[in-house]
Amino acid sequence: MTLPDFRSEADNLATQLIAWRRDLHQHPELCFQETRTAGLAARTLAKLGYEVRTGVGQTGVVALLHGGRPGPTVMLRADMDALPIQELSDAPYASQTPGVMHACGHDGHVAIGLAAATMLARHAAELPGNVLFLFQPAEEKGGGARAMIADGALADPTPAVAFGLHLWNSLPAGRVAAQAGPLMAAADILKIVVRGRGGHGAHPHETTDAIAVTGQVLSALQTIVSRNVDPQETAVLTIGTVHGGSAFNVIAETVELQGTVRTFSPAVRETVLTRLRVLLDGVTAGMGASYTLDVQGIAPAVVNDPAASEIARAAAIQVVGGAAVAWRPPLMVSEDFSEYGRRVPACFMLLGSGNAGLGLNAPHHNPRFDFDESVLPIGAALLATAAAKFLHDNALATSCSETSRSP
Ligand code: NI
Repeated sequence: MTLPDFRSEADNLATQLIAWRRDLHQHPELCFQETRTAGLAARTLAKLGYEVRTGVGQTGVVALLHGGRPGPTVMLRADMDALPIQELSDAPYASQTPGVMHACGHDGHVAIGLAAATMLARHAAELPGNVLFLFQPAEEKGGGARAMIADGALADPTPAVAFGLHLWNSLPAGRVAAQAGPLMAAADILKIVVRGRGGHGAHPHETTDAIAVTGQVLSALQTIVSRNVDPQETAVLTIGTVHGGSAFNVIAETVELQGTVRTFSPAVRETVLTRLRVLLDGVTAGMGASYTLDVQGIAPAVVNDPAASEIARAAAIQVVGGAAVAWRPPLMVSEDFSEYGRRVPACFMLLGSGNAGLGLNAPHHNPRFDFDESVLPIGAALLATAAAKFLHDNALATSCSETSRSP
């Protein structure tokens, strides 16, 4: 059987897609506060005939569509949260909530998810299997995917495969990356406290100057990526904040640092974190200070499964044509879609949404971020096509193997 032409069906939903997106854009909600957004998703999905669970992982929504024929379950995910940024926009659909803004395109992801859900529900009778939608909270700070999984989002039924996508402004509108292997890095947050002995600024010999120690620590840490990581591998170690001291004539007792580590391979991550501890031990001990280190993993790396990526790529070629499906180098940003990918074969796609000609090319997390809405139907068609293709291919493989077993 042939797949439905989801691209033209999605084009017919363009007005609805833009209406959803603009409504969500005007009403952005921060991590784990996405109640209005989740309400819109839950109501829409229930009307479409989905079995809906709300409050999953605090503010998440899980929705299950039963196909007309038996088969496995395919999972599709959309993230819902906004960012604590004051929007700088003259658009009529600019954020109405001061200090909160959809600056990463998750408003688009929710609209895309709802349009994909609409199309798949129309074709439910033909589907050999089920579709499980996850509308996820708290992607930005991390924790949303884990919270949903801890609340049983993957338990009943357990999906056989998962797909998701991110609008991406540094790709031209309509381009798609759907590739196997690493796509986005693992992220860890570092919190370091260097502890010395405070005292009078005129009597350094009676103190252990935490600021002087921190200076040596900062230099030492910058050798990890340059001297300890294999140059063929990739890692980032950034110290983003340094806070210490209270007055010109006081030697600081403590200095607090925060930073992040980004890696693709678990072995490289281990190297970076091990060297971090060794250098902190050595430098602080050598200077008579001490330290505490807290490492908090936000998300593992997004590494796309080869078989799932093959399906996503075929879906992308069907939706936008082969010329618009491009490989792109992996990104050092992180995405907690990887939490699903650790448990289920998964592929995360990037959908180009930048349009320099229309001035829609500000980077993600920028106060002027906006994207080309003409790609919304493409996103919906990508998710629906990938899901239906997985179910149909699986049904085909099953019926072939049954035929070959029969005498
Ligand atoms: Ni994002």
